[in-house]
Amino acid sequence: MRVLMIAPPGAGKGTQGALIAAHLGIPHIATGDLLRDHVARQSDLGQAVQERLTRGELVPDEIVVEMVREAWLDAKAAGGGYVLDGMPRTMDQARAIHRIARELDMIANVALHLKAEDDELVRRLLARAALEHRADDTEEVIRHRLALYHDVTHPIVDWYGERGILVTVDAMRPAEQVGREILTALEVMRPLVDFVPEEARRPIDLTSLGAAFGEAEASARPPG
Ligand code: AP5
Repeated sequence: MRVLMIAPPGAGKGTQGALIAAHLGIPHIATGDLLRDHVARQSDLGQAVQERLTRGELVPDEIVVEMVREAWLDAKAAGGGYVLDGMPRTMDQARAIHRIARELDMIANVALHLKAEDDELVRRLLARAALEHRADDTEEVIRHRLALYHDVTHPIVDWYGERGILVTVDAMRPAEQVGREILTALEVMRPLVDFVPEEARRPIDLTSLGAAFGEAEASARPPG
């Protein structure tokens, strides 16, 4: 299966991407991890992008597009599946990787959108900052990353919706619940995606499932 993820910082791309990759036995390609690895090794590329990562700015498209192209070549040799985390972040990136995917016959069959509210995302990333000390996990930079997401990344969600490959999940719940819902949806879709063309598909919105299983009633009940 070929899955890409679109979600704001802290929504769980890394957490759920690793789960999906392990469950489906496919590579987890995370552009942020690849870039941080370059920075840690102080490669030429790492030195060139370090400042941007620290400030929460996007790195130039050509760098990340080439990174994904190389990772896809490896993924193709390993069977053709992948879960792509952190890309695309702009409409230009979306078009660029779509062109490459078409050339490689590796077009994504699911665009997974993890939906969560900013205050919760800031809370999660500040909690991570206390443990992991990621350079871009200060409150000011987190808020800048979130603003960038809303301005330039979120609009891409509609493009995947129009293509019929969008699956939207409520990522405000505990990670285990979110993961279970994602894996269930992917398992249901797995036998179908290669046979149902994009134009015959419709976006899937799973965000109301919590209410369907009584979550809204539970939260409306008085405590005790
Ligand atoms: P990237 O590494 O992609 O960072 P990000 O988008 O800011 O996302 P995060 O890694 O902070 O969060 P996540 O959504 O992966 O959540 P996670 O699972 O880690 O990119 C970093 C930088 O690289 C960018 O700012 C940019 O500079 C550059 N870059 C990368 N790709 C680029 C591109 N395509 N173009 C240009 N530049 C690019 O979870 C976060 C925390 O929350 C963890 O502690 C986790 O345990 C916890 N958590 C997760 N899920 C839950 C849950 N459901 N409930 C409670 N806690 C949870």
